[in-house]
Amino acid sequence: MNLADITGDPASGLVVLQETDSTSSEALRHVEAGMQGEFAVMAHSQTAGRGRHGRTWVSPAGNLYLSIVVRPNLPAERSGELAFVTAVALHRAINDLHPAGTLALKWPNDVLINDAKLCGILIENHIEAAQIAFSIVGVGINVASSPAGTSYPATSLIQCGIAVDPESLAGSVLRQLQSVRGVWSKQGFEHIASEWTQAAWRRDARVVIDDGAERKSGIFVGLSRYGALRLSTDSGIAEISSGSLLYESAA
Ligand code: BTN
Repeated sequence: MNLADITGDPASGLVVLQETDSTSSEALRHVEAGMQGEFAVMAHSQTAGRGRHGRTWVSPAGNLYLSIVVRPNLPAERSGELAFVTAVALHRAINDLHPAGTLALKWPNDVLINDAKLCGILIENHIEAAQIAFSIVGVGINVASSPAGTSYPATSLIQCGIAVDPESLAGSVLRQLQSVRGVWSKQGFEHIASEWTQAAWRRDARVVIDDGAERKSGIFVGLSRYGALRLSTDSGIAEISSGSLLYESAA
């Protein structure tokens, strides 16, 4: 099975569950049990959904929880590119729904509408002998509800005037991912970086980045060739390959 089978007929390579702990854990269990090729797992709810930086991803029924096992056959140093490929695919899939509001991509890999978070992406890479053996691309999209009490503003498709069924949205995401991966493999990451940058949140604006060790302030001027954020600071250009772009900076 490969992702082309899924995109031709979303039901063919898509495991759909009523509930699981985490679709990304479920996908990993399938790989460990010997499932070959590329495939996807979606669930209508998760009991232990996880986000980036060890955060919990609250996962009630009505939203989309999707994990895709991909095998891009690339060296480990290119593993950061997949988050941007996925974000561009999500941007295309959501844009096709014409939600009310401005859609933007927040570095490194959130999708926002009107400055509020609509989708999150969690990439888990499995590296063997300096190559990506496989990656699990976890995608959460707030379809019918968004969490309350988060440290960042959140929104849902329904709040933006869009009613969509999570299963058909999963099909659109998988088809767009297949198409964007085609651009990535045939034309290179520069094309992905360029499409991503056109939709980037706070591009050419002053931002604050928390890279885990310290907070850096500067003008967000674009992406490096591997997807690091290029920040123009008082002491020159800094390239930041992991961290969070803080919401406070938009104030
Ligand atoms: C983030 O922190 O923004 C990333 C959130 C990723 C959530 C998705 S939901 C499907 C998959 N399963 C998980 O447990 N997490 C990801």
